[in-house]
This record gives sequence, structure tokens and C-alpha cells, in this order.
Amino acid sequence: MNIDAALSSWEGESAMIRHDRQTGAWFVIAVHSTRLGPAAGGTRAMVYATPGEAVADATRLAGAMTAKMAVAGLPMGGGKSVIGLPAPRAEIDDVTWRRILTLHAQNLAKLHGDYWTGPDVGTNSSDMDTLRQMTGYVFGRSVEAGGPGSSAEATALGVFEAMKAAAVEAGLGQISGRRVLVQGLGAVGARVAQLALRAGARLLVADVDPARCVAAQAQGARLVKTDEVTRTACEVLAPCATGGLIDTEIARTIPCLVIAGAANNLLRGGKTADVLAQRGIVFAPDFVANAGGAIHLVGREVLGWTPDEVLARTMQIGQTLREVFDNARKRGVSTERAAQDLADRQLGAASGSADGN
Ligand code: NAI
Ligand code: PHE
Repeated sequence: MNIDAALSSWEGESAMIRHDRQTGAWFVIAVHSTRLGPAAGGTRAMVYATPGEAVADATRLAGAMTAKMAVAGLPMGGGKSVIGLPAPRAEIDDVTWRRILTLHAQNLAKLHGDYWTGPDVGTNSSDMDTLRQMTGYVFGRSVEAGGPGSSAEATALGVFEAMKAAAVEAGLGQISGRRVLVQGLGAVGARVAQLALRAGARLLVADVDPARCVAAQAQGARLVKTDEVTRTACEVLAPCATGGLIDTEIARTIPCLVIAGAANNLLRGGKTADVLAQRGIVFAPDFVANAGGAIHLVGREVLGWTPDEVLARTMQIGQTLREVFDNARKRGVSTERAAQDLADRQLGAASGSADGN
């Protein structure tokens, strides 16, 4: 995809794009909506095939953040930043990384708080500490630097609540005894795997980094090849790597009953959710299931919530999903459609109240 195509098919508010010749990095900040408050969403740093792919990823992810904030009832809009790296993060030296973060901080400052960032794939709390030394508009600093620390734990707890709610909707009842396949054993996925194990699941795991599977295997998990994830029979699939795993074709054959994971924008193509619904596969829309991280960051840093309040709000993700499933069943639409409609209602309600004031 080229930059033209990525932007012309997007209905967001603004996009800032910058290229740094010295490092070869591309910077994109996509602000999708500020209707509910300043836009917020993490900084994703990874290698993209083309700058257009980086812009497309940022714009899609920013839209999902708008829906996530709206459904979670948080007073923020949706945005996302993407840094298209010249090489995988692990191969970038400290000096280059420091320059990349400095330029990103300059970009953030130019938006004057229209967009707040936080950690995402390829960035962590320590990077947020660095950014925050150069600009405001940064969530998710480490506890040592006075921030709320990683959002991964809250995200994993929310995903597990989503998984349980979806299992009930699919007629599976408990997670205990069920085959749960976790794809991606990173900050979130490793915790989801632990929660599933503790609940008595039969765990299957897949990660491109074999070292990450070792601990799970030692606890009895079965290893699945990364290219066989969508062909491996299981009751519950929990995608916790990157998005775009399931397209229409895969949806037609994927041998599971529930899909509930952390990966943002998991489905590819407009009809994929419909195919899953037609096959009776219960899909927990990612922007509902993975809202725990946003609840943690915005709850702690904007709303002044205690960790207990964050936990209570994260646990409500199961209830929100039960309402989404109910609504989808009654209307005969996909769960993705029902969740997006819920987000749109929240956004419409906010615009109505703004008009009225
Ligand atoms: P992470 O970077 O810590 O973990 C990702 C894991 O996936 C790594 O272990 C990596 O080796 C593995 N992986 C990458 N490609 C793979 C593939 N093709 N097959 C199998 N494994 C693969 O990221 P984190 O923080 O755990 O996030 C996971 C997903 O959840 C991301 O898509 C992120 O956007 C999303 N998310 C994360 C939140 C958070 O609070 N960390 C909040 C909401 C969403
Ligand atoms: N990147 C995470 C997400 O997609 C956490 C995050 C939430 C970061 C809100 C910044 C703001 O939910």
C-alpha cells in the first residue's frame, strides 16, 4: 500500500508523517478522533515493508483505539503512533534509538496534547521514561520513574475475562479441561497462558522466539509451529502477537470455537467477522477484550484510580462482552458489528451532549 491509498481510505482527524534521513526511520502519528477527549494510543516500533504500510497500520490502529476508549467508557479519543524502523529493534544501537525517541518526542510536542502516547509493540516503560524527560503527553512510565508501570498485566486479566465470557457464549462453560492455544508469549500472552493454566486449561503455545515457549513447555504446554496456529484444533484461540492473523479464507476453516486475545486489529477484511459468526465461532472483538491496558494507563494517570479500581474496571470487560454477545445474537449480526455499534453509540452520545452545551 502507498501513503496516498492509506490516507484516502481513512476518516481520521489528522496524520503527522516525518522521515529522518540520518536513521532511515519513518514517524507516523495518526489522530483518529478527539471527540471523547485527547487521542491516546501506544507507540509501535517495528520494521514495515514500505512507508505506506506504516501509515496504514497507524491509521487502522488509531481507529481501534477510538472504539476501545468509547466502549471502556474512558474520556479519551483514539490515536496511534508508528515508528517504521530501518532494522529490527534488537539490531538498533543505543545512540540511534535515542535519536529516534528524541525525534518522536519532538513530534509529540508539536501536537500540544491532542495525542498522548504509551507503550506498544517494540516500546516499553523504559522508553516512556525517556520520552517523558523530553515532553509531556506520555503514559506508562515505569514505577521507578513515578508512573503506573506496564499495562500488560491489566491487559492479560481483561483478555482472560473475555475468554471466559466467550467460552460460556460458545457453550463450552468452563476453561478447565479446554485446549487453549496462546499465540505470542510476550508481556501479555505469557500472562494469559499462566491464567489459562491456573484455570485448568490444556495449554498450547506458539511463539517465533522458541526461548519464550520453554517455560510454558516445562509446565506441560504443547508447542505448536507458528505457521500452524490457524490450522491447529483447539477450543479457544488467544492471539497475543500482532494483528491481521485471520482473513476471510482462514475464518472459513479455522478449527476453534472461541477467539479471544490481545492482538489489536486481529481480523483482516470487512467480511471476516461475518464468516466467523456464520460458523458459530465466538469472537471477542479485540478492542473490547484488550482494553485492560488502556483502563490501567488512563485510569491511573488521568482519572486517579487506585490499582483496585483499575482491577474492578478491567474485570467488567467480561460483562461488557456478555452484552455485546447478547446484542449480536438478538440482531443476527457479528460480535464485531455489535461492539462497533456500541462504540458508535457512545461517540454519538458524546457528540449529542457536546452539541447541547
Ligand atoms: P510483546 O512484544 O511483549 O509480545 C509479542 C510476542 O509475540 C513476542 O513474544 C513475539 O516473539 C511473538 N510473536 C511475534 N510474531 C509472532 C508470530 N508470527 N507468531 C507467534 N508469535 C509471534 O507484545 P505484548 O505487549 O505482549 O502485546 C501483544 C499484542 O497485544 C500486541 O498486538 C499489542 O498491540 C496488543 N496489546 C497489548 C497491550 C499491552 O498492554 N501490552 C494492550 C492492548 C493490546
Ligand atoms: N498499546 C496499548 C493498547 O493498544 C496500551 C495503551 C493504551 C497505550 C492507551 C497508550 C494508551 O491498548
